[in-house]
Amino acid sequence: MAHLRLAVLASGRGSNLQALLDASEAGQMNASVVVVISDKEKAQALERARKHGISAVWVNPRDYRGKEDFEAVLIEVIKGHKVDLILLAGFMRILSSYFVRQAGIPILNIHPSLLPAFPGLNAQKQAIDYGVRYSGCTVHFVDEGVDSGPIILQAVVPVFPDDSEETLAMRILVEEHKLYPQAVQLLSEGRIRCAGRKVIISGEGEVDG
Ligand code: GRF
Repeated sequence: MAHLRLAVLASGRGSNLQALLDASEAGQMNASVVVVISDKEKAQALERARKHGISAVWVNPRDYRGKEDFEAVLIEVIKGHKVDLILLAGFMRILSSYFVRQAGIPILNIHPSLLPAFPGLNAQKQAIDYGVRYSGCTVHFVDEGVDSGPIILQAVVPVFPDDSEETLAMRILVEEHKLYPQAVQLLSEGRIRCAGRKVIISGEGEVDG
């Protein structure tokens, strides 16, 4: 089982980052966050990284002429930390196909809906406005589209009639914090492979003995 070195890209609060840090420190995930990168100087995610003694890097998009120049710096930081896996955790920028190709390692994202329903921004509001009775979260591979890559894990939560965007978001977040470390653990165990759009998880559903 390989110990994975993770880069986490986050723009804000960083509660998923915190869940990953906690899972790693508790030995629930055979992986360590080695660098946190943000496009926002004041992102709480950077603060959380510093508290855990982890390299926290702000890359200011305004310092670069175009998206590719900005993304080239992200790649440079990631390569400099010998990362095995990139995790997007509330990173509020759409990465281009240039980034995906240059990275050369798997990239995961967590999204607060049951994809392919409600991709993009404000997924919880989209779910409430649509009137679905269940929503949830999805961990998926990042490909060159928006929230469109092969799905690794999903968790379902109910949507109640009196839910606001915030109450639904909080219910989903509880599941996100469990799901992301689980997905990383499966990768570290080498149990995940893609067959076209489908993600095959070895050992899933098999009965021991
Ligand atoms: C989460 O809801 C995640 O699914 C979405 O952005 C939010 C990030 O929250 N991609 P946090 O910064 O991890 O607290």
